Amino acid sequence: MARQAEAERERRAKVISAEGEYQAAAKLAEFTARSAPGVRIADVGEIGQMAALAAELRELGATALDPTPGGVRFQATPLVCCRANLQSRIASRILWQISCTPYRTEQDIYDAAMAIRWQEWFAPHRTIKVKVSAQQCPLRSLDFVTLRIKDAVCDRFQRARGTRPSVDTHAPDILIAAYLDRDTCTLYVDTSGEPLFKRGWRRSSGEAPLRENLAAGILHLTGWTPGTVLFDPLCGSGTFVIEAALMASRIAPGLGRRFALEHLLLFDRGRFESLRDELRAAIVPPDRGLIHAADRSEQALRAVRANLEAAGCAEAVTLHRGDALQQLAPADSGILVTNPPYGHRMGDREALEAFYPLFGDRLKHRYFGWTAYILTADLKLPGKLRLAPARRTPLFNGAIECRLFEFRMVAGSHRKPRPGTASSSTA
Ligand SMILES: C[S@@+](CC[C@H](N)C(=O)[O-])C[C@H]1O[C@@H](n2cnc3c(N)ncnc32)[C@H](O)[C@@H]1O
Repeated sequence: MARQAEAERERRAKVISAEGEYQAAAKLAEFTARSAPGVRIADVGEIGQMAALAAELRELGATALDPTPGGVRFQATPLVCCRANLQSRIASRILWQISCTPYRTEQDIYDAAMAIRWQEWFAPHRTIKVKVSAQQCPLRSLDFVTLRIKDAVCDRFQRARGTRPSVDTHAPDILIAAYLDRDTCTLYVDTSGEPLFKRGWRRSSGEAPLRENLAAGILHLTGWTPGTVLFDPLCGSGTFVIEAALMASRIAPGLGRRFALEHLLLFDRGRFESLRDELRAAIVPPDRGLIHAADRSEQALRAVRANLEAAGCAEAVTLHRGDALQQLAPADSGILVTNPPYGHRMGDREALEAFYPLFGDRLKHRYFGWTAYILTADLKLPGKLRLAPARRTPLFNGAIECRLFEFRMVAGSHRKPRPGTASSSTA
């Protein structure tokens, strides 16, 4: 009787999948959008990023938004999940929650994973990887938990289909994520695949590039909006200005890449492609002359050009080659946002010690009317610049704790004749 019911459920699931709609698709499902890894919910900056992420998801159609450590939980239809993957600038991945169960032993976790009808989520020819993260988990070995979840998925497939998926730990089609706290195991299917900061436009990295979603989140924290002037005078590979140019051109950040959700049985390629078409049609030519980037390194500028071309928004950014200590402000007012080198080597550190007071003077003398935002791991930066920050926002760049310092360059006694456009060569 139980076998008959199971067979009937599987038959129905196949029909639904064949129509391109999984039964959950009609309902709201639970998702978590994770932000940059290594961030803590208690940090002000992280809360700022969470608020930005939640606002972004709400605009895309998500409901019941609930910030959790490292991410925002929300409810949405699978179509909104596709939108979130394609359009979120701040999320690093979108996970679909498939179960949340109490546990005490590894066997409980195996049973929880075995209870899921994985064959309704993806086909057995797909490769899988299981990734377990835990906080306050009382179990001895997370490697063993990982193995038990993988076994449960394969056993469930074997029972239902007589065949099982194979494991690929490098480039799996399907990533199954498990999060364990003291007594609860939550299982997710990752709908993003490669993290969402991999937009597909990065051709060249330069020196210590920022993650794209961190740069987009910082732009949000600065309050910059398309239509106002933005300048990064130490632009490296151009992450800030390229993210800004994508926003100004209304280019969805995920348009140039694929997603793991395309391997799920619920995936409806027709609807996904019409969503892509809709997003392509929404692209606008950006206003020219508002977004500026400079670097003293020709190699860095070559990287920015290659990246801008790949991102499809080359005309949105004006490039200048030159030393940040000589650059003139490209407008009377605007937002300066930058991420200077940190200086891991001794010689570099000494050069930076000399650079900062001069850069502080430059900001005071040539950027009145501007607001400058500097992301750095050097927490003593304001003293070195000899500027008082109006705001300091804690953020993590990967595992490195940083501050985003805000400096308001008000017009005052340093007033000098109005600067013209940047003096150095323009590319
Ligand atoms: C940490 S990297 C910036 C990374 C960038 N945010 C990105 O995402 O790619 C710092 C950049 O500052 C540039 N730089 C260092 N000193 C400079 C100076 N005095 N004037 C202009 N550029 C400078 C370096 O060439 C390097 O490309």
